[in-house]
Order: sequence, then structure tokens, then C-alpha cells
Amino acid sequence: MPNAIGIFNPSTAVSASGSIIIDADGKEMIDFAGGIGVVNAGHCPPPVVEAIAKQAATLIHCSFNVASYELYMQLAEKLANLFPHGDHTKVMLTNTGAESVENAIKIARQATGRQAIICYGGAFHGRTMMSMTLTSKVGYKLGCGPFAPEVYRIPFPDFYRYGSGLNLDEFSDIHLRELEDFFHTHVPAEQVAAIIIEPVQGEGGFNVVPQKYLQGLREVCDKYGILLILDEVQSGFGRTGKWAAYQHYDITPDLSTWAKSMGSGMPIGCVIGKAHIMDSCKPSTIGGTYPGNPVCCAAAIATLDYMEEININALGEKLGGIVRERFNNMKQQYPAIGDVRGLGAMMAFELVKNNDPFQPDGELCKKLISYCAGHGLIVINAGVNGNIIRVLSPLVIDESLLHKGLDIIESGLAVLTAEEVKAKSYEL
Ligand SMILES: Cc1ncc(COP(=O)(O)O)c(C=O)c1O
Repeated sequence: MPNAIGIFNPSTAVSASGSIIIDADGKEMIDFAGGIGVVNAGHCPPPVVEAIAKQAATLIHCSFNVASYELYMQLAEKLANLFPHGDHTKVMLTNTGAESVENAIKIARQATGRQAIICYGGAFHGRTMMSMTLTSKVGYKLGCGPFAPEVYRIPFPDFYRYGSGLNLDEFSDIHLRELEDFFHTHVPAEQVAAIIIEPVQGEGGFNVVPQKYLQGLREVCDKYGILLILDEVQSGFGRTGKWAAYQHYDITPDLSTWAKSMGSGMPIGCVIGKAHIMDSCKPSTIGGTYPGNPVCCAAAIATLDYMEEININALGEKLGGIVRERFNNMKQQYPAIGDVRGLGAMMAFELVKNNDPFQPDGELCKKLISYCAGHGLIVINAGVNGNIIRVLSPLVIDESLLHKGLDIIESGLAVLTAEEVKAKSYEL
């Protein structure tokens, strides 16, 4: 394997169920990573396993272009009902989040006849060429350019770093005004096909877009005929306590992109959009061999049914409340935590030095992840500086296991920050 394929955690997974992963030594690990936000409904949910097995024995693949099948349409219909985009919604299935983003851009360009795309600092949209271009963190793209042309980046409204002395609404107004300026200084609004944003940045560090900003962005897009694309790949399917994070904002996107928890680990995603936008694509400009293959469709339908049955959104909301409270308590005790933030169960804390948002402590974050791994908890980081601990555990996690995982994080903080204080006093 190439060395470049990163490994967050030294353990080897052999099997998993619910929110527990079992490694090669038979050791149980509590999973706070959820396969990077993929198993909101838990590892191997029985109805999904059953649906996959049944479908695999019936029809694994024939390609929807070659011969259509009911499952693709059933899933599209289900998604359109869950996420209506205006009066008439259409759904295109894909294999991954990056592929969803690629297609959303192609659709937006064809629908508007414009080329420019605006994206954000801190954004992560995938690793294919266009999605990597849209991705912000330079560490993810070193040496991979030249990147796709006509992509413009504006700062994300990062309240923790830049909101000091302002309230969220004032802060949003400033950023919206800057966007209007951007249309005069960088690219005319009339040439912009779409603005793409994650309602809660995932890899960027669980930065939540302020309410007024996203609503304002919707208005700006309407004013200039720009399409608003919301990337829900990490924030979707109950993670924020709603099916979609955008449902917290009382707005509807023109296009949205999905994957991850949609198939409980089977590779499936989608683009959802207003019908007239989706239908503006020329024949054969979108599609592929595998998108929406029958086994993945069966997994996604069973996942969505199961999520409805267990009320995934209520689970997300409850879990988020517990984690937020515990993280806030930890912040009171450990000054290394500079910020606690998130939406629903998409919760994180940011580690900094000297209580300064501009002194990220990626080293401490690395040590904490390693401490947790040694004590039976898989947890991963986020953020362009790698200094943010994020929780992406299955939403079906048992409350006692959740607390056990949070206890491990807390004891790690206690041990590691005490060590730092000791090391500093030796230096003195
Ligand atoms: C918001 C967002 N968009 C797109 C992607 C890319 O998804 P995939 O890894 O399935 O290509 C990710 C993956 O982490 C993501 O978080």
C-alpha cells in the first residue's frame, strides 16, 4: 500500500457491532469515529445486513443504464420525500461523497451556463480533482495540482477565531458584505454558477455556519441567479439531530450532496436537486457504471427505514446534548480546550495553547488520540491544524458506553495536561 494512505489509529478491525469494534486481539474498542461519520445507524445494523445478503443473492449488478431496476427508483423516491428541494425534486445516485460533489458542480454549470464556483476556507469536499480543488487544507493536496480552474475561495465565517467582540448576527453581516465586495474584486456574480458550503464543516473542524449567514447566502444566491449547493456528506442523516443540517436553517438548497451514513458503509451517495436544475444536464454528461448498484440501494433503503424506525434524529439530539454538556464541563477544568462547538451530535472541542484561538495544539490532540486508543476508545481529529477532537460515534451508542468513552477522553486530558504543567515547571 502507498504510505500516503493515512491511518488514524493503530488497531486492526476484525468485526463490529453497534458502537463497538473488535480488534485482532479480541479487544473491544468504543467507536467515536463511526468509520468517519458513516455508521450513524451503528455497525452492521441487522435489517441492513439482511437486506444486503438478500439482494446479493438476487441481483448484484447490471448497471442502471443497461437495464433499470425498481430499487434505484424506490431509493430516489424515498430521498426526494425526505429532502424535498422545491416543488419537484430529482435524485441522482453516486458511489461516494466526492462523486456527489463532482456531479453537483457539473449540473450547476450546465443549469446556469456559467463557470465560476465559490467555496470556503476550511472546506473539505473530497479527493477527486474538482472536489480536491474545492477542498481547502493544503496538506490534503500537496503536489497534486494544477487544480480545476474557475474555483474561488472565500473565508468561512469562523466565529471562534474572528468573532471576538461581535454577536453572531453582526459577524454574519460583515461576511455577507465581504461576499458582495468579492463580486467586484474577484469574480462577477453573473459568472458564478454555484456557491458550495458545508452547513457544518466536517474535516474543517465542526465549524457551524451562523444562522444569519446561511440565510443571507440563500438571498444572495437568489438575487444573482447563483445555485446554492449544500454539502451534507458528513452532516446528514441524523448527525445534527435532523435528517439534514440545513433543516436547522429554514432554507432549501438548489442542490445538495450526500453519502457516508446513507448506506451504513456500502459505497453509495447522491445528488438531490430541484427538478428543472437536475434536468438541464445533457444526456450522458452524468452517470457511471456502478452508481446505485442494487446491493448498495438495498443497503440504503434498509438504512433509511431503520433510521426512521429508531428515530435517528431524536437519538442524535440526545447524544449531542450529553456530549455538549460533558465537553463544556471539561472546558471549565482544562484550559487547553479553547472552544466547544457543534450542532446536534456533530460535537467537537478545539485544543489550543494559552487560551489563544491562534495557537492550535495539534501535538496535544495527537497525544490525546493515542491515549484514547491505548484505553479502548477510537476517536479522530479534524481541523486544518489537526487540533480538534470530533465525535462521530454511531448515534445508537448506549448511554453508558458514551459516558465511558467521554471518561476516557477526560482522563486523557487530565493526565496529558498535568504532564505538560510538570514539563513546564522543569523548564522554569
Ligand atoms: C463534507 C464532505 N464532503 C465530501 C466528502 C468526500 O466524501 P468521500 O470520502 O465519500 O468521497 C467528505 C468526506 O469526508 C465530506 O466530509
